[in-house]
Amino acid sequence: MKPKVLVTREVFDDTLEFLAQSCEVDANQADLAYTPDALAAKLGACDGLMCALTDRVDAALIARCPQLKAVANIAVGYNNLDVPACSARGIMVTNTPGVLDDSTADLAWTLMLATARRVTEVESYIRKGEWTGWKLKQWLGIDVHHATLGIVGMGRIGQAIAKRAMGFDMKVIYHNRKRVSPELEARLNARHVTMDELLAQSDFIILQVPYSPETHHLIGEAQFKKMKSTAILINSTRGGVVDDAALIAALKNGTIRAAGLDVFENEPRLNPAFLELRNVVLVPHIGSSTEATRRAMAMTAAQNLVAALTGKTPPNLVNRDVRAAK
Ligand code: DGY
Repeated sequence: MKPKVLVTREVFDDTLEFLAQSCEVDANQADLAYTPDALAAKLGACDGLMCALTDRVDAALIARCPQLKAVANIAVGYNNLDVPACSARGIMVTNTPGVLDDSTADLAWTLMLATARRVTEVESYIRKGEWTGWKLKQWLGIDVHHATLGIVGMGRIGQAIAKRAMGFDMKVIYHNRKRVSPELEARLNARHVTMDELLAQSDFIILQVPYSPETHHLIGEAQFKKMKSTAILINSTRGGVVDDAALIAALKNGTIRAAGLDVFENEPRLNPAFLELRNVVLVPHIGSSTEATRRAMAMTAAQNLVAALTGKTPPNLVNRDVRAAK
């Protein structure tokens, strides 16, 4: 008998075709998000789950799913999953690292350039028909080239962001819990600094750390006060790493110049005060959203799930200490 799997959100046809070769698939191609109760009811008789960052898999859900053996998140971040609770039940957890690094780095750069050159402000000005002609001092932005870029989190995506900075002749500094090797630092032309040095010296700060209790509100009022008043903050990682209320205050009172945000606390119900601000560029959590990358993420999750349910070690096992699923 094929193992039963639930796919909680719409995926590509080739993902479902791949899954169907080894599993009995219950897919949600209508993409109507399940309530926690509906999810528990659907998952109760399943061996595997393919889910997205919009699904919460916690101890309460796991307790209602006695057959569950594997959870494959279609994301590199997995703060929506209670990994210790899964491990305790012997449930394998997987994510999708690698395939989204470049697209996510591109989006962080898109936000940096758009914020520096005020692209969304001026686009709306043109659309409103307000442009009456060229002026020397009109819509002045700031230069990205030759500026100092501070990257918080030098994992794969942080490194992809740093690589792109070479073409702009930027000075790159970074802060990471663990310093990367001297060889990698040389290749990326990046210098390790303390968090306080990074906050004080950077013209642009890009956050690329995973969300966890340790990184909750990593950037708040105290950190904004340490930044240059001309600094631009880019958050392309996870809501909650930044204290959004403190960011709104910093943008309002000129503590920093601007921000570019792909992620928010309580998304999609972001703080409405963001919508009133001109010095913020807002996009709806699209860091990895190119067709090629989202296809690759879904297929990677499917491959992880099939491996886990067919007695193999999935390529992207997060909880390496978990015992193999039977
Ligand atoms: C991830 O993979 O964690 C991204 O945020 C999903 O787009």
